[in-house]
Amino acid sequence: MLTKIKELAENLAPRLIEIRRHIHAHPELSGQEYQTSAYVAGVLSSCGIQVQEAVGKTGVVGNLQGNGTDQRTLAIRTDMDALPIQERTKLDFASRHPGVMHACGHDLHTTVGLGTAMILSQLKDELPGNIRFLFQPAEEIAQGASWMVQDGVMKGIDAIFGVHVFPSIPGGVVGIRYGSLTAAADDLEIFIQGESGHGARPHEAIDAIWIAAQVITNLQQAISRTQNPLRPLVLSIGQISGGRAPNVIADQVRLAGTVRSLHPETYENLPQWIETIVANICNSYGATYEINYRRGVPSVQNDQFLTEILEKASREAWGNEKVQIINEPSLGAEDFAMYLQHAPGSMFRLGVGNPDQVNHPLHHPEFEVNECAIATGVVTLAYAAYKYYHG
Ligand code: NI
Repeated sequence: MLTKIKELAENLAPRLIEIRRHIHAHPELSGQEYQTSAYVAGVLSSCGIQVQEAVGKTGVVGNLQGNGTDQRTLAIRTDMDALPIQERTKLDFASRHPGVMHACGHDLHTTVGLGTAMILSQLKDELPGNIRFLFQPAEEIAQGASWMVQDGVMKGIDAIFGVHVFPSIPGGVVGIRYGSLTAAADDLEIFIQGESGHGARPHEAIDAIWIAAQVITNLQQAISRTQNPLRPLVLSIGQISGGRAPNVIADQVRLAGTVRSLHPETYENLPQWIETIVANICNSYGATYEINYRRGVPSVQNDQFLTEILEKASREAWGNEKVQIINEPSLGAEDFAMYLQHAPGSMFRLGVGNPDQVNHPLHHPEFEVNECAIATGVVTLAYAAYKYYHG
């Protein structure tokens, strides 16, 4: 079967590069993936896959029926949205949409999803169970997966695979991670209310800026003294605003940031932990506070059994030297985690590094991918899907 899948992928390669370049040239922002979805739906229909459009707002679902000897359904998820970045590559298929760019490789993900669908649709008689292809919108704003789940795409799903490109892994190499792949990411907003006054008479005021400074400093110090150092926690305040004039003591400050964690217990206790610190400082100096703690996406925890399938599939397909076991998780976030609330899954990293050039990071205006990764992704996913049913 592997030989057959590789042969099909080889024949499809020029077409898939064409697809990827088309999507790259026509990027769309999160939640506005109208042309991309229509394009995806068109390709899926042309290979005889039953298509549902406008799922999860601008997402697309493709249902492929196997031969019915196995009742299970495996989902394969790729994302389609681009970023508000002005592309600065010199590619002749660079973005035609000013200020919008596929700088996170979702053009390649979409192509890999389509390529996998094209191959598996030709092998459906040898597929015991079903495959559901999820083409998700709005991953960059961490909402698309929730929209898809709300529209019921995980009903009847037994397992799910996902993929994300990685520029620091060479093109053609598959990165496999057991356990936690990405972090839980929550949003934090803190308002501190003091009392305004003359800059020369601080004792008559309650200085919200000084208190905010203590809150920030204390939160960072408290991580090192009160959190288990073996369980990573990152709290970054990315915005601070307040104050009216250089000689006026500020009565109000707003802090906003992101909180990243991996361990479920750390994650569970975060709102309470933060509130205690903020409350103690504000109470000490007569300020009041309000905290908005919003849960974002949980951590992606890769399932052992499904990760083994991905590892075996890629080792057989590409040889041991093309498979990297990833030793450390990332504190980035990935809304693939929302699907994992409903079924076990595993996501792998697809190397897109080019050997002869600087590999810019994801979200960089000069980010480029090594297109050889399309075939790697397609064969790995198609073969892993086959192995999911055949062992
Ligand atoms: Ni991405």
